[in-house]
Amino acid sequence: MRKIPIEYAREGDTLGKTLYNNMGGMLLKEGSSLNEYIIDKLKAYGYLSIYIKDKYTEEDIEDIIKPEVVNRIYNLQGSLNNIIRNSNNGEKINSKNVRKNVKDLNEIIQEVVYDIVSSKTVLENLASISVYDDYTLTHSLNMMMLSTVIAKDIGFNMNEIKALATGCVFHDIGKTFLPIEIINKPGKFTDEEFRLVQSHTEKGYKFLTNHTDLSAVSRSISLCHHEREDGLGYPRKLKGDEIHIFNKIASISDVFDALTSDRPYRRAVPLPDAMEYLLASGGNHFNIDLIKVFSQSINIFPKDTFVQLSDNREGIIYEINSEFHTRPKVKIYGENGKKVAPYIINLMEYNNIVIEKVIHIFSFDENN
Ligand SMILES: [Fe+2]
Repeated sequence: MRKIPIEYAREGDTLGKTLYNNMGGMLLKEGSSLNEYIIDKLKAYGYLSIYIKDKYTEEDIEDIIKPEVVNRIYNLQGSLNNIIRNSNNGEKINSKNVRKNVKDLNEIIQEVVYDIVSSKTVLENLASISVYDDYTLTHSLNMMMLSTVIAKDIGFNMNEIKALATGCVFHDIGKTFLPIEIINKPGKFTDEEFRLVQSHTEKGYKFLTNHTDLSAVSRSISLCHHEREDGLGYPRKLKGDEIHIFNKIASISDVFDALTSDRPYRRAVPLPDAMEYLLASGGNHFNIDLIKVFSQSINIFPKDTFVQLSDNREGIIYEINSEFHTRPKVKIYGENGKKVAPYIINLMEYNNIVIEKVIHIFSFDENN
């Protein structure tokens, strides 16, 4: 399975992951065969990328969070969001309902964290993370998974990891207090709009503090996930050691997942480019030691990714190397723009060859 921009979807490809609409209902089931009509429909729906399986796909990827569990989380998040939206219209927030809702959500998250910690899949194939039409939901779950992975690799204990994970799921809850037009605005914000957007941190923190029993550490993530090492973040412009390590982790996974997700106004950035961005800005915005842990934990070249090598060969990631993610085995299908009989090379044995970039189709005609 691999993620491709929708323009590269072809008649005969199989949908790799079920697509849901923004009500959590199923739009197109995994395994459906794609044709021109369906592909056009998906484009019209606004999908920029999809997961597909094709003749090059070796095997399925297990879901880390089972769709039923994602649905339960989705429903609980949805009713929590409704409570907040109604409060925007003047209705009083019923703390008892919120407490119960957050407690139920938290219980599910505690379970899910075990699955993430005990599975290698999320490290090796980011395609295993959920795709929902609702960006905020998908994003908070993905960000939670990435944060969990970093925390585990640093060596935090299970209670600490759970507190971090819970905080991540609620990190952007404050956005529900903002007008939906602002959240989805494609262009640049005016100064006033930007101040309003920034207020999601304080609004979320205040809400969680007043209406839930979440721990201080979990709540602080809603307040501090936009703080930056160099003090250029918000809301309090904290610097370096003033920022709790959980918030440093959360800020890295927040940005990484945002970059690698499609947004209404821009397409997802390829995983290697997003990692490059973090490494390049390391030390300024983000904690460089944490980024190093992150870059070693997360595989930016998942199985089935089409790649071009520095010696002009084209192929598909065939076998991941858990020790060195950038040196996997690659099944070669083309050389210098010409199709060749497929063979496998192990990049561990060729230190002079690197993966140059992720591609979506081969440059040669596959049928010739
Ligand atoms: Fe945020």
